[in-house]
Amino acid sequence: MDLDVNYVRSQFPVFATSRNTEAFFENAGGSYACRQTITALTDFYINTKVQPYAQYPASALGGQAMDHSRRRWADALGVDFSEVQFGPSTSINTYVLANAVKATLKPGDEVVVTNQDHEANTGALRRAATEAGATIREWRIDPETGLLDPSDLADLVGDNTKVVSFPHCSNIVGQENDVKALTAIAHAVGARVIVDGVSYAPHGFPDVADLGPDVYLFSLYKTYSVHQGLMVVRRGLLDELPNQGHFFNEGLLTKRLTPAGPDHAQEAAAGGVLDYVEDLAVHHGVAGASLRDSVAAVGHLWQEAEDRLAQPLLAWLADHPEVRLIGPSRQSGPLHRAPTVAFLPLNQSASELATKLVGLGVQISSGNFYAYRVLEGLGIDPEQGVVRASLVHYTSADDVALLLASLDQALA
Ligand SMILES: Cc1ncc(COP(=O)(O)O)c(C=O)c1O
Repeated sequence: MDLDVNYVRSQFPVFATSRNTEAFFENAGGSYACRQTITALTDFYINTKVQPYAQYPASALGGQAMDHSRRRWADALGVDFSEVQFGPSTSINTYVLANAVKATLKPGDEVVVTNQDHEANTGALRRAATEAGATIREWRIDPETGLLDPSDLADLVGDNTKVVSFPHCSNIVGQENDVKALTAIAHAVGARVIVDGVSYAPHGFPDVADLGPDVYLFSLYKTYSVHQGLMVVRRGLLDELPNQGHFFNEGLLTKRLTPAGPDHAQEAAAGGVLDYVEDLAVHHGVAGASLRDSVAAVGHLWQEAEDRLAQPLLAWLADHPEVRLIGPSRQSGPLHRAPTVAFLPLNQSASELATKLVGLGVQISSGNFYAYRVLEGLGIDPEQGVVRASLVHYTSADDVALLLASLDQALA
């Protein structure tokens, strides 16, 4: 069964407002929230908005809701409860993580980073490695395609490699990297692996256990949920990293890498989106024996729907003489070509084109999207940037038709 987009859209309250008529293409910036997220957040604020984990009922219930949310995410991602960390954003999660990793590095050690990353997944780590006296080795994208070649990683790693960090999918190039195979290359030399899943997770929640990295991060506010960053740190590494929180919480694994302290309501509501996923699984007759199975089945539905939606757009942009499409022009092979479609207009600035598109009713934007190094690597001025149309599973075929018609007019 194909994804029932009408059912999907009925689960997003925004589509019951006048904004239902907007063609929204800034999903990679931040997605709409599903009903289940909003209900969980509202419930917490009405019924349990007190300091959690104390003995009195409202507090105890609040703490239970927070634990429930963490447990649901652990089940969905195939990891343990204590391995799921919530922080205010992925940027702060990587910042704290990098500071913890820094203490484990020494001169002579090597850290592999890419220039395909959003700055959040590379800047803090590069700084921490430099301060520790370690050597940074950069795994670079192909300047034409923007893709990372796995054989280059195999050449870069060696006995001194301690950490390898790369994106599951770039927020500009849109092509999924083979996390499982790349993790195996890094693990073979004993390196730890950090994966930025922010641009991948909106298109299917990952099976972190199966993929195998030591750290996997994504931003819940881009996955139909609350404004939090979720970071999985597997036990092997979590036990090794020095505590970044209060000294007396050293033994509490869910506090060691999140010194900011929790946003109780958002943490409790973070799991609401998994109820949405289960509702989708039931509606489409693909519910599995476990939450993890249902997450996988729904991920397939999302990706099939996205491929169908994005294909005409990718083909149109690839053929247009006044446009440079970034990333692959079609889905091929088992890895997902995420419908995060960035392109450079050749006859006007990215900002001019985006402004025209907005005038034609398309909600879209331009810039470097903090993927500064990616644009540099592609030979594009990061200060000028590109236009990015990012679709997700709730995007409608009508939205895409309006985008294509508007592009036709704005590029003429
Ligand atoms: C690929 C990627 N990584 C990391 C981030 C940073 O996430 P956050 O906004 O939660 O700090 C973003 C944000 O846009 C992103 O697109």
